[in-house]
Amino acid sequence: MEFAEQVKSSVDIVNVIGEYVRLKRSGSGPRYVGLCPFHTEKTGSFSVHATHQFYKCFGCGAGGDVFKFIMEIETLTFWEALKYLAERNGIPLPKRSDLADDEAKKRGGIYEMHEIAVKQFRDLLFSPAGEDAREYLKRRGLSKATAEEFGLGLSERSGQTLARIFEKQGYAPDDMEASGLVLRRNDGSGFFDRFRGRLMFPIHSESGKVIAFGGRALAEGDEPKYLNSSETSIYRKSHVLYNLNRARKPVQAAGFSILVEGYMDVIGVYAAGIHNVVATCGTSLTNFQARSLRRHATELVVNFDPDNAGANATERSIPILLEESMRLKVLQLGGGLDPDEYIKTNGTDAYLDALKNARGYFHWLADRARARLDMQTPEGRVAAFQFLLPAIQKMPDRLERLSVANDVADYMKMAPGIVLDEFRKAATEKRGQVTRREELSPEATEVILLHALLDNAEARAEIAPVLRELKVVTTLRSHRIMETILRMIEAGETPSYSSVEGRLGEPDKALMISLVFADDTLTRDFSTEQAVACVRKLMMEERDSLRDDLRRRIKEAERSGNMEEAIRLFTELSKLERGE
Ligand code: CTP
Ligand code: MN
Repeated sequence: MEFAEQVKSSVDIVNVIGEYVRLKRSGSGPRYVGLCPFHTEKTGSFSVHATHQFYKCFGCGAGGDVFKFIMEIETLTFWEALKYLAERNGIPLPKRSDLADDEAKKRGGIYEMHEIAVKQFRDLLFSPAGEDAREYLKRRGLSKATAEEFGLGLSERSGQTLARIFEKQGYAPDDMEASGLVLRRNDGSGFFDRFRGRLMFPIHSESGKVIAFGGRALAEGDEPKYLNSSETSIYRKSHVLYNLNRARKPVQAAGFSILVEGYMDVIGVYAAGIHNVVATCGTSLTNFQARSLRRHATELVVNFDPDNAGANATERSIPILLEESMRLKVLQLGGGLDPDEYIKTNGTDAYLDALKNARGYFHWLADRARARLDMQTPEGRVAAFQFLLPAIQKMPDRLERLSVANDVADYMKMAPGIVLDEFRKAATEKRGQVTRREELSPEATEVILLHALLDNAEARAEIAPVLRELKVVTTLRSHRIMETILRMIEAGETPSYSSVEGRLGEPDKALMISLVFADDTLTRDFSTEQAVACVRKLMMEERDSLRDDLRRRIKEAERSGNMEEAIRLFTELSKLERGE
């Protein structure tokens, strides 16, 4: 029997998918249903067939066998998915691993380097050289067992350790660099470790593989407080939630997840026996992350730091969570304490109580509006209502939207007539927005840009100089194709399909073909304006990510008491927001 067949016949697709999606058996038959992890929905269109061992979503059309599922959900290649399932089920891998493609081999090397790093960091933490760091953990109330459970470690100060090990084990310099764990010396004489003298938090993929690290400074005043891994081919920040690998079962069991801001918050809450807790790693919450949580439970409590930055982050995360049909509450702890400190100060029971009494997001928002606006005047109340509207608009379910709008009116003591008017206006705008957004899905944007660059001289001249300046271009799936074309234009050549294709590697060739043959309704009525709109959308994305980055740095500067830096960054942020 072929190896893939052997693996497939020894796993049960229901169990495998059940780790990612809450499945319910439909009657006593072989079918299980749940919420589709590949698109946003409120009713379960996703079914898994135990007899035929396949899955199918009747909403979005996703479907396939167990390999396809793992490939899609973990973004793995076929070989990686096969290997993953084999390892999990104790099926020995065939000796000849040349089944792997180049891409998978490269990534395999990067995973290995991360395994080596985890072990190295852990060994150092529990060696005599780790005494100060262990003392630090103890001071923060973190037991040895917890440190072990989270795989904490210590990176060595001199910055030679990992670089030496990787060199000795014969990793290619390019692969070493691609791991992000070591950096090339400026003079080209080799590598040094990225993380030096820091407390190390391994970050895992949902399936529990180490894919990145956060490194905390140990001495007060060491900058930055946290140094995190850069993005690599195995780590996409916007996709990962810290601790989801441990939390997913507990989240399913509890029926809700707790979203906190920091590594230490996760660990503090988890160590108190509350296991359904995850964190974003210093970035704003994304739709992708919201969807990963919703796969396990549709309810969630946002419990960010009670400072201004935490409140702003909460405010930003609400529309995103609502957009993904999550039911959410906000827990703002008293005494200016973050979850970790709160549990240390007030105990687990107090935290559990606070959790139980967390209020619906909507009350939290209303309270924020009330603190800012004068609710005594009708103008103030309308302004407050308008502050709440965007969040309400994001709710996908019409009936729920209406009922919340009524609650709002009640809470704000507004005439129901005014509320309904505002609400209808908002609903019409919302419909407009949705269609505009659908026209500009990421895939569609790329199709249109590619068409503009290859087939239309006028559009090309208009957009190429702008695209060249945009960093977000590097985040597109087709970035290598785009970059190739932009370089050709810069060199004065006129790009054509065949001239571009000749310069691309295999996966990009295939991608270009699929983009060129994508839905031709997208480019049937092509105009330069359409291409410009796509570029504008990318510019907005770039601005948003710059803004997130500035906000994060401001928060950091504020926390470390560096007010001068905070003010400087804040000026930059205001300029950005004014569109300068
Ligand atoms: N963070 C980051 N880079 C920084 C500061 C913070 O990536 N320079 C991220 C980290 O993921 C951190 C989270 O933002 O865990 C929250 O920051 P903070 O509240 O400052 O850290 P804590 O995790 O609470 O750590 P500690 O309790 O040690 O201050
Ligand atoms: Mn904190």
